[in-house]
Amino acid sequence: MSALSSIVVGSHVWVEDPEVAWIDGNVLEVDGEEIKVNCTSGKTIIAKTSNVYPKDTEAPSGGVDDMTKLAYLHEPGVLDNFKCRYATNEIYTYTGSILIAVNPFKRLPDLYGKDVMEKYKGAVFGDLSPHPFAIADAAYRQMVNDGISQSILVSGESGAGKTESTKMLMQYLAYMGGRAAADGRSVEQKVLESNPVLEAFGNAKTVRNNNSSRFGKFVEIQFDKRGRISGAAIRTYLLERSRVCQVSDPERNYHCFYMLCNAPPEDVERYKLANPRKFHYLNQSNCYELDGLDESKEYLATRRAMDVVGISSDKQDAIFRVVAAVLHLGNIEFEKGNDPDSSEPKDDESRSHLKIVADLFMCDEKSLENSLCKRIMVTRDEKITKSLDAQAAAISRDALAKTVYSRLFDWLVDTINNSIGQDLDSNHLIGILDIYGFESFKTNRCLTVLNNFASI
Ligand SMILES: Nc1ncnc2c1ncn2[C@@H]1O[C@H](COP(=O)(O)OP(=O)(O)OP(=O)(O)O)[C@@H](O)[C@H]1O
Ligand SMILES: [Mg+2]
Repeated sequence: MSALSSIVVGSHVWVEDPEVAWIDGNVLEVDGEEIKVNCTSGKTIIAKTSNVYPKDTEAPSGGVDDMTKLAYLHEPGVLDNFKCRYATNEIYTYTGSILIAVNPFKRLPDLYGKDVMEKYKGAVFGDLSPHPFAIADAAYRQMVNDGISQSILVSGESGAGKTESTKMLMQYLAYMGGRAAADGRSVEQKVLESNPVLEAFGNAKTVRNNNSSRFGKFVEIQFDKRGRISGAAIRTYLLERSRVCQVSDPERNYHCFYMLCNAPPEDVERYKLANPRKFHYLNQSNCYELDGLDESKEYLATRRAMDVVGISSDKQDAIFRVVAAVLHLGNIEFEKGNDPDSSEPKDDESRSHLKIVADLFMCDEKSLENSLCKRIMVTRDEKITKSLDAQAAAISRDALAKTVYSRLFDWLVDTINNSIGQDLDSNHLIGILDIYGFESFKTNRCLTVLNNFASI
């Protein structure tokens, strides 16, 4: 709401601007419902009184670190405060005990070093510049001093920096509650290394974010009586299944598919892989590479992270076999079979992909083909096998790919959790929720998605 009563001729105000959102200026005339403003850009505009907000001319030029200190807590005032701070790389601002982060879209290493963590250790909240470390420290202190479990909620639109902020919070808690482990793989190290593993399988490039989390995550860090990390559990929600077989340009499928196609030659050979452009689940979009990212290095880094979180090399092989199988599955095309309304793999190429999938899944090739081209209905008295036409077979192929991939993801989370280990005796924990980032679409296809879902 604008503070209309305080706006008179000569007042400094904010008015809406189609280009820069809000622009400031001086009031020239007040005429009932309308106000004439001489903007700092030089133009004079007439604005509705309800869209004009007073500007605090005494606000410090560098902004304020806590927005409760602002004279006017309205949209233009808040945005201007962020802008002033952003100009000097002050990307964090408080609103009371809430921290607001503005994505810098560039690395600011000086903000997150060990020396910075040391500075925030035990500092009174609000004494130092706003920072995720201060939030984590406050949660940790409250847990230790008052014996109350804490939760930190990280929210914002897609690409805002939730996952990066979550990592900072986890890093600080690991620093405060960590202890050296005999085998070099402490609980906190495993928790931190679970990030790249989960990101490889649950993150993808979208229009808004090259590393968008396509799942929600709640990390629960458990502490013993002395405030040391004694266990952890990761819970994930709602992996975006449709992305496995449907990608729109210029987005990508999950990172792991591209990494695996760029694995060392012996792995590419083992999983019968090829250039990502050869796979239907990847070539629906023209985007295959990400700026500044070497997929072959990412593959090796993911393998190393899997070692740290305690996934054995046999299990790693099984995981990548499933990932490769999903890609080959997508290349099985169907055509009309001999019987009416029936279908079969289209050609030798489709048959060859079917065979590779059966080998990778270690299942019988004919049974796999039947599971795609036929549907078994169980009635009270008997089992009825119904043939599917080529279109329905392709839908059941995609359904299998989505189910296998999302089960792989759930299994991966379970395996990581078993390896990290939970402390069932722990009374105190700090939970961090990195929620699914929201997106607004010009055309919302939610209904279509629900329809697809219902038809599987
Ligand atoms: N504090 C930061 N310092 C440097 N870069 C950052 C920071 N926060 C975010 N970024 C950059 O912005 C990108 C997007 O951030 P992030 O993945 O955390 O967004 P998100 O809110 O989790 O989005 P989504 O909901 O799509 O998962 C990061 O990959 C990184 O390049
Ligand atoms: Mg994220």
